[in-house]
Amino acid sequence: MQSVVTEARDQRSGAKKEVRWLRAWPNQSSWEQLRLEKAMVKLFILFLNLLIVVHAAASKIEYGKFSVLEEFESLHVEEGNEVEDANIPSWSSSQRGGKVLVNVDSFEAAGDGISDDTQAFLKAWDIACAKPKAVFLVPPGRHYLVNATRFRGPCSDDLVIQIDGTIVAPNEPSNWDPKSAQLWLDFHNLNGVLFQGNGVIDGSGSKWWAASCKKNKKNVKGLTIQNSQQMHLVISLSDSVGVSEVQISAPGDSPNTDGIHITESTNVVLQDCKIGTGDDCISIVNASSNITMKRIFCGPGHGISIGSLGKDNSTGIVTKVVLDTAFLRETTNGLRIKTWQGGAGYVRAVGFDNVRMEDVANPIIIDQFYCDSPAKCQNQTSAVKISHIMYRNISGTTKSEQAMKFICSDAFPCSNIILSNINLESKDGTVETYCHCAKGFGYGVVQPSADCLNSHDEDLFSIGWAQKAATV
Ligand SMILES: *[C@@H]1O[C@H](CO)[C@@H](O)[C@H](O)[C@H]1NC(C)=O
Ligand SMILES: *[C@@H]1O[C@H](CO)[C@@H](O)[C@H](O)[C@H]1NC(C)=O
Ligand SMILES: *[C@@H]1O[C@H](CO)[C@@H](O)[C@H](O)[C@H]1NC(C)=O
Ligand SMILES: *[C@@H]1O[C@H](CO)[C@@H](O)[C@H](O)[C@H]1NC(C)=O
Ligand SMILES: *[C@@H]1O[C@H](CO)[C@@H](O)[C@H](O)[C@H]1NC(C)=O
Ligand SMILES: *[C@@H]1O[C@H](CO)[C@@H](O)[C@H](O)[C@H]1NC(C)=O
Repeated sequence: MQSVVTEARDQRSGAKKEVRWLRAWPNQSSWEQLRLEKAMVKLFILFLNLLIVVHAAASKIEYGKFSVLEEFESLHVEEGNEVEDANIPSWSSSQRGGKVLVNVDSFEAAGDGISDDTQAFLKAWDIACAKPKAVFLVPPGRHYLVNATRFRGPCSDDLVIQIDGTIVAPNEPSNWDPKSAQLWLDFHNLNGVLFQGNGVIDGSGSKWWAASCKKNKKNVKGLTIQNSQQMHLVISLSDSVGVSEVQISAPGDSPNTDGIHITESTNVVLQDCKIGTGDDCISIVNASSNITMKRIFCGPGHGISIGSLGKDNSTGIVTKVVLDTAFLRETTNGLRIKTWQGGAGYVRAVGFDNVRMEDVANPIIIDQFYCDSPAKCQNQTSAVKISHIMYRNISGTTKSEQAMKFICSDAFPCSNIILSNINLESKDGTVETYCHCAKGFGYGVVQPSADCLNSHDEDLFSIGWAQKAATV
């Protein structure tokens, strides 16, 4: 076991603050393997850098080559980014190993799946949040019915949220504020917390999802209501958060219910999560940076999304997102970046690595014309810019003919899209790539071919040159 100390900024004061991550390597050989893998990744990045330098130099692209390299260098998962479960003392004692257990059962949670345990959770939260090294425990073997609730920080250091039991959403749609996004379990303004456990966050019994706006479009008045979204687990305005082995479920036909939603948060690691839902398995929106996702299982659902961003001419900024190792099954999108027309800001430095898809519609998609309103969206000039997006080792089966879609803005084309080792096949034959105003290049096997990314002759020339240079 090893303790990794990183620095983070305190949400309130802005002061630098140490955040401790507990990391345990299972054994020596897997550690060695990890080192080997990291070395290989670094080698690949070096190699890629060479390609980009050559590419940039040859086509005299407007950006400085050094900033381009920096963007991509930030994409490999750093050592220490891995979060291993913190050791939790046994349930019998309330205090061991410096950890303080705060069990929701001690606050009269019924755990029967019928009684409302919201108050018990909130009381336990207040205590756990106030105590350093606390473990907020949802014990195994029971079902806790919890209303839509915001769990507010800031909390004391080293808080662990241990979910071993099942948290279920209320059956009836309650009188939630219809104007705002409907967040079920919203963890807000936290700094340095770790979610873990073998429990389930289960929204599947809820009529709440079923009564959602998307299904009843015609019955609901007002844009805000129609577009209000529902999220299972929300991490908002937080820094240094780890989420490990959390399971989230909802029926595939529950509309607009994101699994894990990250907003205005930095330095987040999601790993070993299994998510099935009616909307995005994971969505990452505005003002989020350094988000790492590892070993994610997604399906059913709409895939893993950055966005949507830029709605109603707003500014959206998301940078440094890495997904490494994922399995997506029967989702309506795979890896998606979606922005509304008319927005501002940017999405930059995103890497999707080692993803296996099975029966996924739109496995790889960038959509700068995202429009989720009942009224048709007007074409607009401004856009959330999208650049430095890398896809490596993505394979599997696609349900749509256009396995890769890069639908970018005329005024702000997508740039520096890099594809490597892509193999997407459809069961019934042809697959292709669609590009609109997207620039970048492919390297290694890229199936379907992404020649449409090379929209300019000089680029074509430089790619030929880069590939030749790379083989010397
Ligand atoms: C849960 O929400 C319902 C509907 O808004 C409300 O009546 C009930 O009191 C809430 N429960 C708690 C414990 O807040
Ligand atoms: C990114 O986040 C991880 C996990 O919180 C952290 O260990 C790492 O230092 C962060 N990287 C940067 C550049 O802040
Ligand atoms: C997105 O974040 C930026 C920077 O934090 C902020 O200026 C902007 O208002 C945010 N946009 C939205 C839609 O909240
Ligand atoms: C966004 O900007 C466009 C162009 O300036 C304008 O026509 C439109 O009404 C704006 N939309 C909103 C929601 O403010
Ligand atoms: C490619 O990705 C798949 C799926 O995650 C993984 O099993 C495989 O090991 C990866 N291949 C390489 C060379 O990393
Ligand atoms: C909006 O822009 C897209 C992309 O350039 C174009 O295909 C479409 O025809 C435009 N729509 C209108 C109504 O101008």
